[in-house]
Amino acid sequence: MLVEHQRLLKACEYLKTQHSTPLTTQERLAYVVKVFQGEMVPHIQKEEYIFEACRGKIPELDFLIGELEAEHLYLSRLYSNLTETTELDKVIDQIVEGLEAHIIKEEEHVYIMIQQYLPDVIDKISW
Ligand SMILES: [Fe+2]
Ligand SMILES: [Fe+2]
Repeated sequence: MLVEHQRLLKACEYLKTQHSTPLTTQERLAYVVKVFQGEMVPHIQKEEYIFEACRGKIPELDFLIGELEAEHLYLSRLYSNLTETTELDKVIDQIVEGLEAHIIKEEEHVYIMIQQYLPDVIDKISW
């Protein structure tokens, strides 16, 4: 999961960087679509499987998992919005901002707790 998070954070960084030839809105959109289809959708599916396996054991973890699932939904909704919105750049910026904060929360809180309290859940999962 860590490697996937690194790749997703790199993609966010790429979208935020001021490039010498600035990306056009259409280029940013195409990049977001590629990242979602190639990385983000399968990543969320894997995580929801892990979260399901961790649920009901530690109340504090259940609470955080609830928040993360709501964030998955929020990010997926923003992504779906891209087909309708006239403010593409704004929505893309919201995705970048939301995704970065989401990954930091997972890494700094949730996966640390899972590793500490439920290491066998991670060990049992075969990808
Ligand atoms: Fe996630
Ligand atoms: Fe994640």
